[in-house]
Amino acid sequence: MTEQPDTTDSIDDETNSGSKTPIDGEFTVTPYAVKGEIDYDKLLERFGADPLTDEQIRRFPEHPMLRRRIFYAGRGVDRYLEAAETGEPHAIVTGRGPSGPMHLGHVLPLYLAKRFQEETGAMVYVPLSDDEKYLAKDQSFESIGKHTRDNLRDILAVGFDPERTRIVIDTADADVIYPLAVRLANYLTPATVEAVYGEQDTIGLQFYPAVQATHLLLPQLVDGRQPTLVPIAIDQDPHVRICRDVATKESLPVDKPGALLGRFLPSLEGPGKMSSSGDVPSIELTADPETVATTIRKHAYTGGRATLEEHREHGGDPTVDVPFQYLRFFFEEDDEELERIAKQYRAGELPSGELKATAIDRITAFLTAHQRGRDALGGLEDELEPYRLTDGERRRPLERAGVPMTTRSD
Ligand code: TRP
Repeated sequence: MTEQPDTTDSIDDETNSGSKTPIDGEFTVTPYAVKGEIDYDKLLERFGADPLTDEQIRRFPEHPMLRRRIFYAGRGVDRYLEAAETGEPHAIVTGRGPSGPMHLGHVLPLYLAKRFQEETGAMVYVPLSDDEKYLAKDQSFESIGKHTRDNLRDILAVGFDPERTRIVIDTADADVIYPLAVRLANYLTPATVEAVYGEQDTIGLQFYPAVQATHLLLPQLVDGRQPTLVPIAIDQDPHVRICRDVATKESLPVDKPGALLGRFLPSLEGPGKMSSSGDVPSIELTADPETVATTIRKHAYTGGRATLEEHREHGGDPTVDVPFQYLRFFFEEDDEELERIAKQYRAGELPSGELKATAIDRITAFLTAHQRGRDALGGLEDELEPYRLTDGERRRPLERAGVPMTTRSD
């Protein structure tokens, strides 16, 4: 199957502006602000991305988050699928902004990337944008550094294959990232950045899109032209758009990266994005079973009725029930089991408390496995070493981009 041309990819389109505060029924989604009730289909029109077709979903490695259209849209997906199917080189980039402890929503794209790596041998790049979070959040470098080290342990705990995974940290791998970002920044104008992200507070944040564009091109700059897919929550799509634009306009030996766009894991208080900054707590990856249980029991929005009697009579609504939505997103892999739960809930046979208990059970099982991986790690430096760019992998991207290291005389 060939891809439709990207006519809607324009980043100069006025509708892409995300700086306005939403009024009733409106919503804002940019990398720096998610507000209002999100209409995921409208968002695709705004961004100019395409819903995934049934065929595309069949061609991806089997995964509940695709089957259930949690990852529901994309750009340039077919070229990635072709390479994955024929065994040609292909890459995934999915990063982390280390502004705090990681919670359940943050780790979903990483586990998806791991599945892709296991199934088709994808090379996986995980950049950490400590620079971005220093600029975007009111935190010291020391604090961001602490979160970076902590987040690295969670990323390592996912268990990627070190032969096929590279983790880069913007400030620690600045020798590679910075010259490339400068090369790309030479093309990006303030008007473009503003059209895509809205107004930025500092020139630091205005520059950052060049850094994230570097992340997305890095697999190709290291290992040569190859289809690259970026599985991310949809608020990060502007970065992909910018990068696709730069990639075609600059004469770099790369293809435009594709995007695989996901919905937000709802926060416990109901529809919306799980956030570390709201009033309701989020479920952190280090949470112990007790904490998971009390947090969900106390804070999870339910689609159940006010009393057990009413619930038995009228039934509950799984579509707004957060514990059910968690099961659907990731934590109950078996479609038939999920359907059975939904049916019993609607029929009033399954009370909210029991549905919560099931969600607590599944989430705890997932976290226990994740935490086992985390606890088995030794010192961070040693653990990270096999995932870092090698000397050759540091040199090649700069040569490919025409910014060779000035300290090398040969
Ligand atoms: N900007 C992302 C965030 O705030 C983190 C990130 C950095 C990223 N580089 C990336 C995500 C590359 C996906 C791909 O969460």
